[in-house]
Amino acid sequence: MRTTVSVIKADVGSVAGHHRPHAKMLEYARKKLTEAEESGLIKSFYVYHVGDDIGLVMTHDKGENNSEIHGLAWETFKEITEKVSKPLKLYGAGQDLLSDAFSGNVRGMGPGVAELEFEERKSDPIIVFAADKTEPGAWNLPLYRMFADPFNTAGLVIDPTLHDGFIFEIMDLVEGKTVKLKAPEESYDILGLLGTPGRYAVSRIYRAKDMEPAAAASTDRLSLIAGRYVGKDDPVLIVRCQSGFPAVGEVLAPFAVPHLVAGWMRGSHNGPLMPVSFRKASVVSFFDGPPRVIAMGWQIADGRLVGVDGVEPADLFDDPAWDYSRDLAMKIAVYMRTMGEIMPARLEPAEMEYTTLPKILDKLKERFQAVQK
Ligand code: 13P
Ligand code: 13P
Ligand code: MG
Ligand code: MG
Repeated sequence: MRTTVSVIKADVGSVAGHHRPHAKMLEYARKKLTEAEESGLIKSFYVYHVGDDIGLVMTHDKGENNSEIHGLAWETFKEITEKVSKPLKLYGAGQDLLSDAFSGNVRGMGPGVAELEFEERKSDPIIVFAADKTEPGAWNLPLYRMFADPFNTAGLVIDPTLHDGFIFEIMDLVEGKTVKLKAPEESYDILGLLGTPGRYAVSRIYRAKDMEPAAAASTDRLSLIAGRYVGKDDPVLIVRCQSGFPAVGEVLAPFAVPHLVAGWMRGSHNGPLMPVSFRKASVVSFFDGPPRVIAMGWQIADGRLVGVDGVEPADLFDDPAWDYSRDLAMKIAVYMRTMGEIMPARLEPAEMEYTTLPKILDKLKERFQAVQK
């Protein structure tokens, strides 16, 4: 039986700046998706937030890029904006809805999308990661570690079902092209691209021996769509785990050492990606951050999400083991802030193109004088 997991997310407004959504927004999303579940359009759903982004996790049998599913998400975000965010004058009401004309697919319209259609296995554990205050390239390093680094994923070495490696589909976000490269044979080429996360981001991963889909990430970059700064993309990622894929523990392990990602304050700074519990700490406050990631774990059974209690997912970073990583993330965050607006704390000029900095530089243009030879 084929099941599709669709994760569609957007920032459509928040309380106290870019901190977190209003409870009524989440309530509204749950009401809309309950109706869709009752009508049979979707089989199950879960509504979460990470920082100021709201995510809709939906399971159904309609396949990827389905216009009814995308339409449901678009309508939900639109209605939340009109009925909750705007009347309450929430910050950035409707921020990520960059177009008015929905034509069947939300890709390229602002919301982030990750979808994975697959034949259900005997037991199918999945993890949905969601990040705030960063961009899709933030998954490059952890995805490489999960699917290509034998020092992270023991299964690549000791499990014959993983031994043939994985195929990385990498997107050039500027040119809108993708390339498929195979690990381990082409790992140096893969790393050559993944080292530029602002431009190249992993869009999908397949198991090499049978092209079984293993992971899918959102690749939408708001500034490239809008041509101006409208907040960071705040990506999502779906990963299938166990039995022929990396184990849950191998999928989580790369987040132990917080890596630097682009985003944070005004989408213009490098900061550590901090793994947090979505129940306890899914809000951003230090310099609008630091950038953070939550991990929600489910089993998929008969097209439905099975969590620890109904659809309530396992809160995978809610383990004292990750206190060490959070501590380290804060040390790195405070250290990075000692550098103020000097690179690499601030992003490089190409990444600042869509921010307000060019206006300042423009103003100074006339005051530059030629150097006398
Ligand atoms: P179990 O033997 O507990 O199923 O664990 C196997 C495994 O995959 C651990 O990562
Ligand atoms: P978001 O992309 O999460 O809305 O954050 C924007 C921002 O400017 C934070 O300082
Ligand atoms: Mg915001
Ligand atoms: Mg956000």
